[in-house]
Amino acid sequence: MHYRTLAPFPQGFLWGASTSAYQVEGAWDQDGKGPSVIDRASFAPELSDFTVTSDHYHRFAEDIALFAELGLKTYRFSISWSRLFPTGDGEVNPLGVAFYQRLIDEICRYGIEPLVTLYHFDLPWALQEQGGWSNPHTIAAFERFARTAFELFGDRVNYWLTINEQNMMILKGDVIGTLPPGTLDPEKTLYQQNHHMMLAQARAMIACHAMLPAAKIGPAPNISCVYPASCRPEDVIAANNYASIRNWLYLDLACFGRYNAVAWSFMTEKGYLPQVSAEDMALLQAGRPDFIAFNYYASTTVAAESATHTEREDGLREVEDQQLPGLDKSVYIGFDNPHLEHNEFGWYIDPVGFRITAREIYERYHLPLIITENGLGAFDKLDTGNKVHDDYRIEYLSNHIAQLQLAITDGVELFGYCPWSAIDLVSTHQGIGKRYGFIYVNRDEHDLKDLARYRKKSFFWYQRLIATNGMQLDTDIDY
Ligand code: BG6
Repeated sequence: MHYRTLAPFPQGFLWGASTSAYQVEGAWDQDGKGPSVIDRASFAPELSDFTVTSDHYHRFAEDIALFAELGLKTYRFSISWSRLFPTGDGEVNPLGVAFYQRLIDEICRYGIEPLVTLYHFDLPWALQEQGGWSNPHTIAAFERFARTAFELFGDRVNYWLTINEQNMMILKGDVIGTLPPGTLDPEKTLYQQNHHMMLAQARAMIACHAMLPAAKIGPAPNISCVYPASCRPEDVIAANNYASIRNWLYLDLACFGRYNAVAWSFMTEKGYLPQVSAEDMALLQAGRPDFIAFNYYASTTVAAESATHTEREDGLREVEDQQLPGLDKSVYIGFDNPHLEHNEFGWYIDPVGFRITAREIYERYHLPLIITENGLGAFDKLDTGNKVHDDYRIEYLSNHIAQLQLAITDGVELFGYCPWSAIDLVSTHQGIGKRYGFIYVNRDEHDLKDLARYRKKSFFWYQRLIATNGMQLDTDIDY
């Protein structure tokens, strides 16, 4: 459908940017912080670990001033659970509380709306040692952590996110989740963990509504549209299966309080069914989100073929795609999408898929949407004069935001956009060299240099875009 006129971004649209605690704060063991699963994980030795990252813990005032200069209306960040509760559910750490009090005060001082993720991959290690999300005790610990955060910060925080990318933690449990190496029956374990996380999320949403009636809370999964590799009906079924297993299982539970039928059949067939009680289902029914936040980086394409066929007679090619977690070749196979380009890390670039995803989610749940991650990871280069000419990032963002405007014109109720990331930080598995930020942090994988902050070209481009409420999307800008 071609529109003669596009709907503008709504007044008060929350232009923002995102980070997460373990990727940006550093100070991994300072001021009483307990270790998290991230601090105990092993990473490739040539890449940075998460001990210092961008040193935001010590430099947050400088960073927030830069975010204000950028013009952010909202800033999405996460609270490190083990900074607040070093052992996950024991004593509260007063220095951890003080840090987040100062951070939130600083954000609010500039009139920026804080958007807080409660849990972004960094489960306290003490809880993991007791079984992590396999142990139902973690549900109660999460509720206590959430209630404490609502009590401490709820006077200034109006928007809350429960769990970042729960679906990725389940689908890639061995890489970013809480699945101990060598777990027997990993998928069954992960789907039980998923059920427990869902219950924890429901409890947090109920608590938020009871304690902070004016606040809003929602989940933050990674959602992407799934294309069939061809119009062959079996490929369409494969795409449908994958969408249910990758996307709708998580959002149906959060928004409808029930299991997605196809995902349930998949778990039954594979022997992955979690233990679910009638009380659990009542709890899931009672905990409802006010909005849906979602992260989008790329679309996915799948086909129904046997694992032995890597090339089909129609010329389509199988791919191992990072964006295709939870690969189960008996249900779907990741295929190349010849219509799309990749970034340097092999992720498909698909702005139109962004519009499709927003439309699909809105049509399905009819809740307001906010984007909490979208962006381009790249090996940025620091040029003379401490400049970073990241025109590729500007192009990526401009194309994606243009599609968001189309989605709004389509009728999608969208109230914010927070690209990843506000400032350079350490990527989940590809070090600091894979940069996403509007602000360059002067360090390498192992050489911390001076950690100085430099505004990239995209900084000025996004600043102008925000100042015009999304009107000035063109990519030319003096730098
Ligand atoms: C999301 C995560 O999956 O993608 C972030 O919520 C992450 O924590 C981002 O950094 C980009 O992924 P990566 O692997 O490039 O850091």
